Amino acid sequence: MDRIRIVGGERLNGTIPISGAKNAALPLMIASLLTRETLTLNNVPRLADVSLLARILGNHGVDVTIAGKKAGQRTSDGQTFRLTAPDIVDTTAPYEMVARMRASFWVLAPLVARCGKAKVSLPGGCAIGTRPVDLHLTTLEALGAEIELEGGYVHARAPRGLTGNRVPLAKVSVGATHNALMAAVLARGETLIENAAREPEVVDVANCLVKMGARIEGIGSSTLWIQGRETLYGAEHTVLPDRIETGTYAMAAAITGGEVFLDGAHGDLLQGALQLLRSTGVEIEEKPTGIRVARNGGGLSAVSVETQPFPGFPTDLQAQLIALMCMAKGTSEVRETIFENRFMHVQELARLGARIDLKGDTALVTGVAGLRGAQVMATDLRASVSLIIAGLAAQGETVIGRVYHLDRGFERIEEKLGQCGAHIERLSS
Ligand code: UD1
Repeated sequence: MDRIRIVGGERLNGTIPISGAKNAALPLMIASLLTRETLTLNNVPRLADVSLLARILGNHGVDVTIAGKKAGQRTSDGQTFRLTAPDIVDTTAPYEMVARMRASFWVLAPLVARCGKAKVSLPGGCAIGTRPVDLHLTTLEALGAEIELEGGYVHARAPRGLTGNRVPLAKVSVGATHNALMAAVLARGETLIENAAREPEVVDVANCLVKMGARIEGIGSSTLWIQGRETLYGAEHTVLPDRIETGTYAMAAAITGGEVFLDGAHGDLLQGALQLLRSTGVEIEEKPTGIRVARNGGGLSAVSVETQPFPGFPTDLQAQLIALMCMAKGTSEVRETIFENRFMHVQELARLGARIDLKGDTALVTGVAGLRGAQVMATDLRASVSLIIAGLAAQGETVIGRVYHLDRGFERIEEKLGQCGAHIERLSS
């Protein structure tokens, strides 16, 4: 199993290219199930989750090809995927697949919408909590599907197709909003999704569905109106930049006291997080082509924040913020409101010398003068990158185990950080 070794204490200086967003690329790829024609996606990141989803979609009958690099294209430009599903050959998503990547559960809605049936394994729990799928199921039921749970599988049937309806989501959920959208675009009649997630990745998927011929109004708001269509068509779409990768590297630069340019990042995708970083004393300058982040000399101030759906501070940056606050002056309060048990990184950060008290859903982080390198273990995607951030600032050597979590969501992280002066290497075994 690969590990990552960091010798901390170097400032980061240079340019980091920002990849396409994993959380948009995955549902965009899944949208290819909705049409017989080709969906072309540009700027798809090179990630383990993307490759796994390509294999899963292949089992359903999607032909996935990756276009070769064009002249002048850089590796950082992302890949172009062409996904074509002339016929759906299998409407079952087996346990082995869904257990490895939760987002593959999202094939449920497009399969039912297009084929009138699907059998998809329940994803089960994961390191960051129970993560139920009740909203996905009630959404499909509202649109006329019959749902049965049997043997760990969701059996969904709508032999005469789905019918538009009011879909009030009891909780803001990114996945359930994707699910409702993908079901509604092929349903008969009108659907109104209330309390929809407004995350930029939901907007990106909705915009792509419109290019495919869907009629959606209210994109970017919490009420989405959809007029179902009989057929959707091929389209070409470019995946938006990854706001979580952007925020992560901004915090990496901030903790080391360096200066980086996040090439291709869009500030408007993470206003809440940038505002918060500014309040800690980090300099942030938004430019048309990216974001400059610097902390030259000054210390970091503690903050008080809670995670919220977009446009609030994202739960996917909570672990990274806690790592950063380990080096701030004073005590920060970081409350996690989206997922239970999303504090697995806390005990690993403590191994590096961090002072963090957990009180229910709140982490109280008291800054220390310095962190010291140690052996630590990645527990989930965002937790593992928080250990990298802390390792970059820690004196001496930090070795992070179980980095396969990292490879699911961060493209070429050691190369991107190494180019900015970090001493970081992958130890393969
Ligand atoms: C997506 C993101 C993940 C991010 C999360 C919240 C992808 C691939 N993943 O996950 O990185 O951390 O949004 O921004 O895009 N819930 C229910 N019932 C449901 C579904 C969700 O109660 O049927 C709850 C969840 O337990 C959680 C909250 O709703 O408390 C939000 O979760 P949700 O937005 O659905 O997360 P995901 O879509 O799984």
